[in-house]
Amino acid sequence: MRTRTAIVSLLIGLLLVSGFALAAEPVHITVATGAVGQELEISREAAARYMELNPDVKITVLDTPDMVQDRLGLYLQFFEAQSPEVDVYQIDVIWPGDLAEHFLDLYEYGGKEVAELHFPEIVDNNTVDGKLVAIPWFTDAGLLYYRTDLLKEYGLEPPTTWDELEAAAANVQAGERAKGNQDFWGYVWQGNAYEGLTCDALEWLASNDGGSIIEFDGTISVNNPRAVEILEQAAGWVGTISPPGVIGFAEEDARTMFQAGNALFMRNWPYCYSLGNGPDSAIAGKFDVSPLPAGASGAGAATLGGWQLSVSKYSKHPEVAADVALFLASYEEQKIRAIQASMNPTIMSLYQDSDVLEASPFMGSLYDVFVNAVARPSTISAPRYNEVSTLFFNAVHSVLTGKSAASDALEELELDLQDLTGLPVK
Ligand code: GLC
Repeated sequence: MRTRTAIVSLLIGLLLVSGFALAAEPVHITVATGAVGQELEISREAAARYMELNPDVKITVLDTPDMVQDRLGLYLQFFEAQSPEVDVYQIDVIWPGDLAEHFLDLYEYGGKEVAELHFPEIVDNNTVDGKLVAIPWFTDAGLLYYRTDLLKEYGLEPPTTWDELEAAAANVQAGERAKGNQDFWGYVWQGNAYEGLTCDALEWLASNDGGSIIEFDGTISVNNPRAVEILEQAAGWVGTISPPGVIGFAEEDARTMFQAGNALFMRNWPYCYSLGNGPDSAIAGKFDVSPLPAGASGAGAATLGGWQLSVSKYSKHPEVAADVALFLASYEEQKIRAIQASMNPTIMSLYQDSDVLEASPFMGSLYDVFVNAVARPSTISAPRYNEVSTLFFNAVHSVLTGKSAASDALEELELDLQDLTGLPVK
């Protein structure tokens, strides 16, 4: 009897211990994501779906600064400390080259099976020394947003050149102000001194045959008459068709103004589309998107943007972290993003998905804009792209604020880029 009691209590003891083991602390994964527009909410919803399927994992979604250089600064602090605090990082399309050393090779964690579903150019961009340092999550390209109701009212078509944009913006701005809206502006865009300005200004240059700062062949091309010309034109928008404050604008500043009904045109990324048609938007159903206008090249240009997911080399749970990253970037999750938040998938077949095309028709009609977008010179200048871009946007900003003449700013920039990169001038 005694022995039986002993055995029974031993068994109970064992069950309790294993029960505790089963209910052990979940694996904790932190994903650092953006918080622009609806990004944070939809990332949290995606994390909740993962946790529902994997109750032994707890994901914290950490929001990070909107402006690219600020976000990079935060990430660099984590890397410097080799911190395991963040397991998965949302990284910009321009960062794989600069940051590769801090990330695991996702080819070794299930990335091989899914890489071929994504745009090959983005997979190439994310492959550094044969390692897949990031799985593509969503892609971006600069678009022109325009008010369909106002263009119709004023008998105008969406502009196909910068000159047409200027004329339409001035015309409608004057008309709307005469009707009493003193806050109305013709054109809003990203003019603050940060990565967003690099994107906008690269579009100006490329659309005007002014090159792409540093070319694919490694020559510095930025100091040329076409670039000077278009920068002067853009500087002329500040305080005329664009608010004086545009030189402090990032994406969300432009969106807020456009979405409130106070601008005719806006340059922005696809995420603004679903928000613009949302319940609290003043312009729902009253706008559309088109390619950005052309300059001397005869064709508009869109800068290639977009974000990827990388797993930190310093993560304590690399397998689980990679599983989370691949889940977030999966077909089903990209589909939800495309429908709910008009963020462009990187999985090619989603561009044929009827639910996606119904929610965000521009993903089909402007498909060419997305596949022909102009890349920033991040691969050629890695690991110094951020410094290249900083020199570029500061030079452009000094032209926009009237501090420098475009010709002087680009001449100086050319010298600075030579010093920094050691690359030759074209
Ligand atoms: C968007 C783009 C990103 C770019 C940034 C600039 O988030 O996707 O590539 O660097 O805007 O503000």
